[in-house]
Amino acid sequence: MITRIQNATCVFPEQTLVANVLIRDGKLELDPAVHAPADEIIDATGLHLLPGLVDDQVHFRDPGLTHKEDLHTGSRACAAGGVTTFLEMPNTNPTTTSVEALHQKLELAKSKSIVNYGFYIGATCENLEELKNATRTPGIKIFIGSSTGNLLVDDQDALERIFAETTLPICAHCEDEATVRKNREILQGGKTHADHSRIRDHEAAVVATKRAMDLSLRYRHQFHILHVSTAEECDLLYAYQAGLSQFSDRLITSEVCPHHLFFNVDDYERLGSLVQMNPSIKTRHDNDRLWRGLNELTIDVIATDHAPHTLEEKQQPYPQSPSGLPAVENSLALMLNAVNEGRILLERVVDAMSAAPARIWHLANKGGLIHNYDADLVLVDMNLKKTIRNADQQTKSKWSPWDGAELTGWPVKTWCGGKLVYDGQQVDENHRGREVTFTNH
Ligand code: DOR
Repeated sequence: MITRIQNATCVFPEQTLVANVLIRDGKLELDPAVHAPADEIIDATGLHLLPGLVDDQVHFRDPGLTHKEDLHTGSRACAAGGVTTFLEMPNTNPTTTSVEALHQKLELAKSKSIVNYGFYIGATCENLEELKNATRTPGIKIFIGSSTGNLLVDDQDALERIFAETTLPICAHCEDEATVRKNREILQGGKTHADHSRIRDHEAAVVATKRAMDLSLRYRHQFHILHVSTAEECDLLYAYQAGLSQFSDRLITSEVCPHHLFFNVDDYERLGSLVQMNPSIKTRHDNDRLWRGLNELTIDVIATDHAPHTLEEKQQPYPQSPSGLPAVENSLALMLNAVNEGRILLERVVDAMSAAPARIWHLANKGGLIHNYDADLVLVDMNLKKTIRNADQQTKSKWSPWDGAELTGWPVKTWCGGKLVYDGQQVDENHRGREVTFTNH
């Protein structure tokens, strides 16, 4: 089966231009003759063709917490959002902290996931051998501060050993546990959702990020800082990059999430626990600095940290309300809307949501409209206006903190491995994605 997508404005790695592309045997072919034979022709005049997104931070709750989400519903949300590959976090039940648990998750995904998948292995203070033996994983996730679940590696000796003795890339949730505990005590546990940002404050994020950067630099270990939330962390990263002789020498990369770009402490009044996240949302000043960091390449990646909980769970009073919000099906539209508002270039969005995560996690054949890469594609209509509605959400949790937001710029078709998995209305629930492979191990 050969599909020709013609007349789309294609966002290639080096340039954006109107071109025709072919999908053949699940792969992308560039430069086909204008009338290359095809079984199916998609006229994409006026639309933009992007490489499928790679969301390198999602929580799909499978196994163990599947009343919130599972690999099928989470991947369904991905397909509708233009995300063709996800990398999922280890704080499931059981946790993904052994090679056996990792392989079980991969088996689950093989039978349930509509799009492509990979899973991190989680660090504990005792599982060094598992971290050394794991191969079918993009890398190691460390919770340097605790979040949902019980994964925490706060002990300095344990952290030193992980950075010294393992070889896979590491990513970390950086919030300093001691600072969080101290703030929690001062605020007597916290009474309102707004206290969440006082407990998990700027200092907590900055102290932990500094600590992790120090480990990465001393052990020369590739390290990715998840969900940067403060201006100070951007400044640290900026200074780190400025000290390098070559940009490509970077050991340390970072990412930002839409909720840290779009929400700040002023939103607690309207949205309460719906914007309760770890790391917490910060101030308008932080929003501005994160946008600048993203635009000036201090921050490499946009990922969602999609972390669904049921609305009932979220509606509990603070501090019983759990931290986390679903976003994977809306992240691209939120960023396309920002492109339309002139806040960021489309090419920068494509790099941050597809090429950069594929590069950082060494994913084979993903992250670009490149000849012979996997035909993981998303066609977007930059002029389409749609409103995010809780009832329309594909995620099992059926709510979004952006409920009611009208956005301009939406995915209208998603292909995964050359197969159409979203046609603008429906997700093909029968399609199954593939396990990602790596170019570094
Ligand atoms: O708010 C959060 N919730 N942040 C995380 O890092 C974990 C996530 C979850 O799993 O619920």
